[in-house]
Amino acid sequence: MSDFIHDFWSHYVAIATLASILACLLLLWITARAKTPASEDNTTGHVWDEDLREMNNPMPRWWMGLFVLTIVFGLGYLFVFPGLGSYKGRLEWSTDGEYTKDLAKANRELEPVYAAYTALPVEKVATDPGAMAIGERLFLNNCAQCHGSDARGGKGFPNLTDNDWLHGGSPEKIKESITRGRIGVMPPMAEAVGTPEDVKNLANYVLSLSGSPHDSVRAGLGKSKFTVCASCHGIGGVGNTAVGAPNLSDRIWLHGYGLDAIIQMINTGKTNQMPAQQGRLTEAQIHVLTGYVWGLSNAKTPGAGAP
Ligand code: HEC
Ligand code: HEC
Repeated sequence: MSDFIHDFWSHYVAIATLASILACLLLLWITARAKTPASEDNTTGHVWDEDLREMNNPMPRWWMGLFVLTIVFGLGYLFVFPGLGSYKGRLEWSTDGEYTKDLAKANRELEPVYAAYTALPVEKVATDPGAMAIGERLFLNNCAQCHGSDARGGKGFPNLTDNDWLHGGSPEKIKESITRGRIGVMPPMAEAVGTPEDVKNLANYVLSLSGSPHDSVRAGLGKSKFTVCASCHGIGGVGNTAVGAPNLSDRIWLHGYGLDAIIQMINTGKTNQMPAQQGRLTEAQIHVLTGYVWGLSNAKTPGAGAP
């Protein structure tokens, strides 16, 4: 309830809520006091279905009592729990807090399960079927939405099962990627390269690095322009994990394959982000996940990742 764009709305909601509760009370009070003129036999004079008459009896006391009790309960509830605009309630209860508490409890309960794995180096975790089963579930719940349930990624999301790494495939680097997240920044480079013709020539040169189909005359003309790219992508475009610049000399494309995709990359650049898992997942969970991800491209154990 703290997402109001302006305090006014918080007050508006709070006042509207209280006013309608008090209006209920007022309604009860008015109707209890109002006297309907009744005839001798205590009927109001309304008759239905020939002989069904409305009596003029007061509302039963127990019913009025219940009505008042509901109102008292409602006010008490609003005092203790959130419900009045952005007022948090005496107990400061929130679904968020409840979730965090449950999560902390679950993590405490799971500690002994993980303890066996945190003591192992990542390479050993990757060969432990129990750890890999946990790793797979963690991956499906936390990573699959971006990297795919088979971890093979998609456009913009790196494949974690091949041995092609943006930021490095050692256990330490993988753990760092997961823990702290990564931001890959490819700046727009068109200006540094020159005219659109220059960009097209350079893109053909980039294609030639991986032996992909290209126009070799243009590639020859574009070659010298690659110096501005080599600072990040390395000489020959072999990539540089220190800045997360992909290898351009393999045939693995993160952002699409072909002349147009490369020209667009040079023209517009790209910022890509892997969200940090620190704080979302425990250290032990990240350790097991590191083993799982490392295992996808390294472990030879059957069932523990792709060969
Ligand atoms: C919101 C999408 C998203 C989620 C969720 C996500 N990732 Fe990523 N991940 C990315 C992107 C995008 C990159 C590439 C970053 C870049 O381009 O530098 C990446 C990069 C990585 C890398 C580095 C790959 C390399 O080639 O160096 C690893 C390892 C990784 N993710 C593992 C995980 C794990 C494990 C999880 C689950 C805890 C996860 N990711 C969850 C989007 C995501
Ligand atoms: C400041 C460093 C930097 C410079 C300079 C740079 N790049 Fe990049 N480039 C990157 C990074 C980082 C990525 C990956 C972006 C991501 O994480 O998704 C990338 C991605 C690419 C891709 C996409 C690769 C794929 O697998 O889809 C191409 C193509 C590319 N760069 C070409 C070039 C060319 C050509 C130049 C020179 C004009 C250049 N880059 C200059 C850092 C750089």
